Amino acid sequence: MDKYDCTWFDTEIDRSNTNAIKYNSSKLNLTNGVSPFPQDEVIPMWVADMDFRIPRQVSEALHNAVDHGIFGYSAPSVNYFEALNHWFETNHDFHIERGDVFPTPGVVFSISVAIRAFTKPGDSILIQQPVYYPFERTIKANERNLVINELVYDGARYTIDFEDLERKIIDENVKLFLFCSPHNPVSRVWSREELTRLGDICLKYHVLVLSDEIHADFVYRGSKHIVWATLGSAYADTSIICTAPSKTFNLAGIQSSNIIISNPELKRAYAAELDRTGYNEVSQMALVACEAAYRHGQNWKDALIEYLEGNIQLIEERLAGMQANVSNTPAISLVKPEGTYLLWLDCAGLGLTDAELNQFFIEKVGIWVHKGITFGLGGSGFMRINIACPRSLIAEALDRIERGLMADKDNS
Ligand SMILES: Cc1ncc(COP(=O)(O)O)c(C=O)c1O
Repeated sequence: MDKYDCTWFDTEIDRSNTNAIKYNSSKLNLTNGVSPFPQDEVIPMWVADMDFRIPRQVSEALHNAVDHGIFGYSAPSVNYFEALNHWFETNHDFHIERGDVFPTPGVVFSISVAIRAFTKPGDSILIQQPVYYPFERTIKANERNLVINELVYDGARYTIDFEDLERKIIDENVKLFLFCSPHNPVSRVWSREELTRLGDICLKYHVLVLSDEIHADFVYRGSKHIVWATLGSAYADTSIICTAPSKTFNLAGIQSSNIIISNPELKRAYAAELDRTGYNEVSQMALVACEAAYRHGQNWKDALIEYLEGNIQLIEERLAGMQANVSNTPAISLVKPEGTYLLWLDCAGLGLTDAELNQFFIEKVGIWVHKGITFGLGGSGFMRINIACPRSLIAEALDRIERGLMADKDNS
């Protein structure tokens, strides 16, 4: 079995001219022309893909498929389902029946299919903001009623306001709950107690749960991800579990996801809606990459998590140092991440408006992070930073942040 160490993830890879959204998209919109950083030198740390090369065995499997040279209509083989089940059994104690799997080209696509399969226009769908913004966008695009249960921030950590959630479910007659687990962007890995309490409320009011678990494999020391369906048969029976190899193995451009539904009635409704989209064959490359990743990717993934923990440690240490050097109160503090590679920075200490905050990061610091307000209610004053990149880039970003804070202090 292949071994991976830091050198795999330390390698800086040039992504220019590779159609990478992270590097190409909206470069021209980045600045208003006053930034001291040439546009190509603003470090992109926003969209959620990684700057790491995929596991060697996945590349080889894709190479072999290319060398074979035929790209006809494709369907997943027994081996595909075996690899998927093996991964989830080994990593998450989750057994997946082959007949419960819908291979699809992406989680957002699959959420949209679920919204149409299980709700009608005007029906209420609940989400917990701040949250991955396509949740809100997809609900609105499908003309459903958006209901928000805002997460509670105590200055260090996020929790759920269960009373508010239950009241809104009753008042708005909520039909579907789009749940993010682990949570992007507040990087919570929900505990069994939290999941069960949520589940019991949803069971009580017959709310269907779509659990988006695309970040399931990114969990740090001290936390454990629990697949919603493993809470018990009642919870499994009333849920749709969204999984994908795309975040774990950096395969977003390959477009591969697997949606797990065990309730036969829900399966029929989902299959019918999938049919209506006209999408019925998974891309050959998605099948090849997904199977190889789940079959051979364990060592790579374990090394990746260790590497990301190193990145997090560096960020924690340096931000603490900046607090001592630049200001007595933390101008920027990190919401301690339990999972995901998307870190949530509390920037309230800077005392800037959201527009000024964005300008600060792009023009004074020279890094391109995601605006907190993009993630909805509760996002104001925060920024989301993607740390799935070589440590050298993290160190450079931290140097820039420190210089930006120093310049700010000197001007005040
Ligand atoms: C919670 C969550 N769901 C879904 C996605 C995107 O999934 P896909 O690319 O499969 O549509 C992301 C990407 O960042 C995400 O964070």
